[in-house]
Amino acid sequence: MSAEQANTGKALWHGRFEGGPAAELMAYTESLSFDKRLWPDDIAGSVAHVQGLAHVGILTEAERDSVLAALERVAQEMGDGSFAFVESDEDIHTAVERRVTELAGPAGAKLHTGRSRNDQSATDVRRWMKRELVRIAERILVLQDVLLQRAEAAGGTYLPGYTHMQRAQPVLLAHHLLAHGWALGRDVERILDALERIDVSPLGAGALAGSSLPLDPDFTAAQLGFAARFENSLDAVGSRDHVAEALFALTMVGINLSRLGEEFVLWTTEEFGFAKLDDGYATGSSMLPQKKNPDIAELARGKSGRLIGNLTGFLATMKGLPLSYNRDYQEDKEPLFDAVDQISLALGAITGMVATTTWMPERMQAAADSETGSATDLAEWLVQRGMPFRDAHAVVGTLVRRHLAGEGTLRDLVVADPALGAEAAALVAPGVSVQRRTTPGGAGPKPVAVQLVRFRERLTVLRAAVAADVR
Ligand code: ARG
Repeated sequence: MSAEQANTGKALWHGRFEGGPAAELMAYTESLSFDKRLWPDDIAGSVAHVQGLAHVGILTEAERDSVLAALERVAQEMGDGSFAFVESDEDIHTAVERRVTELAGPAGAKLHTGRSRNDQSATDVRRWMKRELVRIAERILVLQDVLLQRAEAAGGTYLPGYTHMQRAQPVLLAHHLLAHGWALGRDVERILDALERIDVSPLGAGALAGSSLPLDPDFTAAQLGFAARFENSLDAVGSRDHVAEALFALTMVGINLSRLGEEFVLWTTEEFGFAKLDDGYATGSSMLPQKKNPDIAELARGKSGRLIGNLTGFLATMKGLPLSYNRDYQEDKEPLFDAVDQISLALGAITGMVATTTWMPERMQAAADSETGSATDLAEWLVQRGMPFRDAHAVVGTLVRRHLAGEGTLRDLVVADPALGAEAAALVAPGVSVQRRTTPGGAGPKPVAVQLVRFRERLTVLRAAVAADVR
């Protein structure tokens, strides 16, 4: 084997191997470059493991204390950036153990007793997820709160609601904003729900089958603040459905932000003119002096592609993997970290954009007040006077067709129609239609007033649930 030997220290498996690892192997298989950020979790996991080993008498109190002191020193070095990584540090687990052994000598060499990097890395990632997903949920709550505040301040402002991107019926701006707010609330619920399954400690599963040593996985789970320990060691190190689930929850947040972003892209066009972005949340063009671009909204849209890629890519990684741990699982971290980082940044930017955007109510309302927007109200007026809806639809549809063919304003045609007349024509006046959206959960002022209260209540409940979930 002529390959350059990469390790300056010894590989973890040096006893079994005559030669050291090739540089190309280390370059290809290392995960330190991205799992470094797990160091607080790796140290917490090691602290719990060491306490567990002492608890069952595998380490003496003196050994425990010397390893704990070394772990504390490592944490300090990691925290202040003075930790010196060496070439043989393949991943964060290897790096921490190597340094602990340097610091604590023979006691340090006992750190990995009864443990494998398989249960160790699975534990680290779960612990990391518990913390980071709660942070994401907190950020979603902030965006929901901004949407609520803007909805409350929007008063009676209304705009066209669309189906098929065609103007359909007028809706209150508050109603439109809260529609995004409710979707984001489900994202929070999904994250909290996923956390239930994430909150299980794999520590003590060993490489795959547990240990001949009298380990106490319940003890270490409790030390680490996990709600439970694993039930099956093969499953503990051999499953990543919780990662896939979190990736889905994050991707769904991204898609919801993308959809909200797309509306801001549309609303800020000259063609729509429903909204103007604050200078701090828009970009200019390097060439076209007049431009003001909605880059945050576009990137929320664009980056959802990469989030979908993280999710589908990881599902493909998992597919067909036999039990239990396979090195393929090292690939869980980059998509997960990327998804959390991207969603975190997106939430900050979108929240700022939504908070600072200026609405253009005249443009919104002018678009919503096109006469044909009240067509359904006219049909329903006929229904209330006993006409079957299908017939009413045809009567009004005919008037709309004649109006569009240039026979007159819809109002005049309604006045002249024997079934409708002047009373019905009042429905065509600006601002009337939105008032008539009166049913529960509907888009008019009455139900929206109720909805605002309910949304605020729901937000309080979610906020308490997220706060209680700081696991
Ligand atoms: N860095 C690895 C990971 O993230 C650690 C586990 C390696 N285990 C092993 N048996 N080679 O999965």
